[in-house]
Amino acid sequence: MQSQGLPGFRDFYPDDAALRNHIFSAWRDVATRYGFQEYDGPPLEPLELYVKKSGEEIVGQLYTFEDRGGRSVAFRPEMTPTLARMVAARGQALKKPIRWFSLPQLMRYERPQRGRLREHFQLNMDIIGEPGPLADAELIAAALDIMRALGLGPDDVRARVSDRRVVRALVDSYGLSEEQISIVFQHIDKTEREPRDVLIDNLVKTAVVSSDVATKVLSVGDIRGMDDVRSALDAVPGGADAGEPLSECIEALGALGMGDFVDVDLGIVRGLAYYTGVVFELFDAHQTLRAICGGGRYDGLLAALGGVDLPAVGFGMGDVVLGELLTQSGNKPQGQLGIDAFLVAVTGEDVPHVLRLASQLRDRGLKIEYALKQQSIAKQLKLAASRPAKRAVVVGPDEREKGVVVVRDLATGREDRVRLDQLLDGYGWG
Ligand code: HAM
Repeated sequence: MQSQGLPGFRDFYPDDAALRNHIFSAWRDVATRYGFQEYDGPPLEPLELYVKKSGEEIVGQLYTFEDRGGRSVAFRPEMTPTLARMVAARGQALKKPIRWFSLPQLMRYERPQRGRLREHFQLNMDIIGEPGPLADAELIAAALDIMRALGLGPDDVRARVSDRRVVRALVDSYGLSEEQISIVFQHIDKTEREPRDVLIDNLVKTAVVSSDVATKVLSVGDIRGMDDVRSALDAVPGGADAGEPLSECIEALGALGMGDFVDVDLGIVRGLAYYTGVVFELFDAHQTLRAICGGGRYDGLLAALGGVDLPAVGFGMGDVVLGELLTQSGNKPQGQLGIDAFLVAVTGEDVPHVLRLASQLRDRGLKIEYALKQQSIAKQLKLAASRPAKRAVVVGPDEREKGVVVVRDLATGREDRVRLDQLLDGYGWG
């Protein structure tokens, strides 16, 4: 019986690992360029951390079990509760605003489908301790700069930005309770995935509102563009104030040079329960894939976890959709990495010399390989070409006697005799 991996979990063959590393290095480069520091937490957490804070959708997807000590534990499905717990524990001691990033592997028991698996890696960037819209803009700009670092522009990727305070101000006039508003948010979040009449029926049932109110509150999610948001807000009490942070965030994104990527879109509210302000998602421009990234402001979460009361904003960006988008748009790193040289031993007696030379060249930072058993020159050259190696360096009795090696460029076939001391120092490996 051939054993298989679990559905929704990936094997990373070298080509897949190369794509993953390409994404990770863009994540790390941009995050550090924005002055963020890397942190990490445990992959396993107490179950209650998520039950309290993540909201129903994620709790229904947890990988959870009882450990040998009888504790209910869960694999992390997201990083935000861990981050909130870590900051809450040291809140007073940390210099604000905190700018941290992490690259955790997460697990969610979802139905595996295009862009959604049961494990994924997720860049998390969060700013804690700053309530103003410049922090929101900073994070959206960082997410977009990652797109640019990966070769994607405004024709490839769009940032859809909204603000729960704006949506709330627009639905407030219907006199809904907190619980009803949270159900409304969940339904607006589903507008693109489910037919409107189904959502209206559902909202009537779950939030106990009339179908007229259900229709009207859902249509708030259809508003696009800052001008339309402003006119809608002008018509409700306190509307202008509610729109201020979003408006400032969008302006700051323009000044940061990201305006071309950004669409104001009240259809974005996000599924997670803890968001309180600006929320955003990045999508491929044709919207054929799931969200590349999602995040927003979650000002109440730290206090709710029993720690310090600090405002916070952040996002998570997964490697699955991003990998698909890079492959689809031709921005995947090309070819295998290869090596600088493959050392070829002509006879068995040359092998110790090849080993010594390999060690000396590796000490100089070069990528070197040689055959691990005695083989014909033809076989060694074939192996060299398959790596691929840029050059074959041939060591034989004649060459040794003269203190030289033969360097063959495997792309052009050109051969040069090079003195050993020159090969080690001063040879143009580039
Ligand atoms: P989220 O929207 O659940 O947010 O996930 C963020 C991103 O992670 C998604 O846009 C998607 O790219 C990726 N992702 C999520 N689930 C899967 C999956 N099953 N398979 C593949 N990719 C997936 C959060 O997790 C928030 N904690 C983000 C955040 C950080 N908010 C504030 N700070």
